[in-house]
Amino acid sequence: MAAASNKVGALLIITLLAFLGSVECQQGSGGGGILCLGGWVRPVSSALGRLGCPGGLMPSPKIFRAPRSAPSGAALRVGYYNSCPNAEGIVRQVVRDAVDKEPGMGAGLIRLFFHDCFVRGCDASVLLVNSSGSSDPSEMLGPPNRESLRGFGVIDRAKAALEAACPSVVSCADIVAFAARDASSFLSNGRLNFAMPAGRLDGRVSLASETTNFLPGPFSDLETLKSRFAAKGLDTKDMVTLSGAHTIGHARCMFVSTSRPGMNATLAGELRQRCGGGGGNATVNLDYKTPDVLDSQYFQNVKDSAVLLDSDAALNASETAALVDTYAADVGSRWEMEFAAAMVKMGNIEVKTRPSADAEIRKKCSIYN
Ligand code: HEM
Ligand SMILES: *[C@@H]1O[C@H](CO)[C@@H](O)[C@H](O)[C@H]1NC(C)=O
Ligand SMILES: *[C@@H]1O[C@H](CO)[C@@H](O)[C@H](O)[C@H]1NC(C)=O
Ligand SMILES: *[C@@H]1O[C@H](CO)[C@@H](O)[C@H](O)[C@H]1NC(C)=O
Ligand SMILES: *[C@@H]1O[C@H](CO)[C@@H](O)[C@H](O)[C@H]1NC(C)=O
Repeated sequence: MAAASNKVGALLIITLLAFLGSVECQQGSGGGGILCLGGWVRPVSSALGRLGCPGGLMPSPKIFRAPRSAPSGAALRVGYYNSCPNAEGIVRQVVRDAVDKEPGMGAGLIRLFFHDCFVRGCDASVLLVNSSGSSDPSEMLGPPNRESLRGFGVIDRAKAALEAACPSVVSCADIVAFAARDASSFLSNGRLNFAMPAGRLDGRVSLASETTNFLPGPFSDLETLKSRFAAKGLDTKDMVTLSGAHTIGHARCMFVSTSRPGMNATLAGELRQRCGGGGGNATVNLDYKTPDVLDSQYFQNVKDSAVLLDSDAALNASETAALVDTYAADVGSRWEMEFAAAMVKMGNIEVKTRPSADAEIRKKCSIYN
């Protein structure tokens, strides 16, 4: 009963926040555009030329949550698994094999970490096939994730090897973090090497409905991108730095925009051709130049108007252009160093570190114990 009324209370608060947010946005926060399903659905213009959301969808509020202070990660430690000394080596080998077979799997693992951390913190909630206490679909079925996320099999293989070596010791949340770090190292040909603090526990709750509230979508303007990162304690610089991950991997055509003014026309034509005119499931490389290398090419692409997502193009705004220039210049591995630090910072978001009714070390990554 208490739980039920808490739930109603939370819903009321969320509705109220959403309402306040939409008022704020009507008062004009710049940006101009509207947000459909949190930026995951492309707005359409009506016969009168006004932007709206397709399929009777209501526009989402733009500024949804208050900014937070940076996540401290104070309870995480480098070398946490001294009771299972080869834990990180085991993960690294499994990731090595996967990336050798298919570089895109490395891209998938880096994105998996981001999508885990932004929804309920870095607690492997993104890996759960169902949620404790709810029969609603889990995060992996949310619009940003369904038919899109890859790397689940890699995490499962690493977990199986770890359970054989040290049963019930290494959390799935830490495996996701280690795997993202290792993928970064392999895809950058060793330019990115960094320690990843550990000690995260696994959550038991995972809800698809939460994904579009927290994960920024490809049809987001700069204001929205900044606010979604700020809501997790990451600043605008972290947002720009981490966006550099779009130098690897692919995107489905439904998210790709090819008619932005000034866009490289050759590239736009190639993308339209590859996408067959449709906005469907076909995929195209996010970085047309070095699609399988984790490097600073993305920032040159932003400057060259050769990026695929509206959210990528948004980084050319005056507020962020200087940092884009700095990274594109590729002097002294500046982007690589700052990307490593930002990945560690992202890995601190809302971590669970004390065993409790909703924090555990899972035996199997897809199911809570
Ligand atoms: C800044 C806001 C961001 C937006 C709006 C965004 C959006 C997207 C979208 C729409 C896709 C294509 C998904 C699909 O086609 O199904 C994608 C792919 C990808 N994103 Fe992001 N993303 C953002 C930030 C990040 C961050 C912070 C990271 C990691 C640090 C990241 C890593 C990736 C990777 C690696 C891929 C390719 C995945 C693959 O090939 O499997 N993104 N992103
Ligand atoms: C989630 O899945 C597991 C394993 O299939 C099952 O034991 C559990 O009862 C399920 N929980 C819910 C709430 O459906
Ligand atoms: C535009 O994109 C094409 C590849 O599609 C590339 O060959 C060309 O160099 C790009 N042009 C500029 C000015 O960046
Ligand atoms: C994309 O794939 C999903 C799942 O396989 C399917 O349901 C959907 O109809 C496809 N969409 C298009 C436009 O082909
Ligand atoms: C980036 O912004 C500058 C200054 O507003 C503008 O001149 C330039 O055309 C923009 N470049 C791209 C790629 O949008």
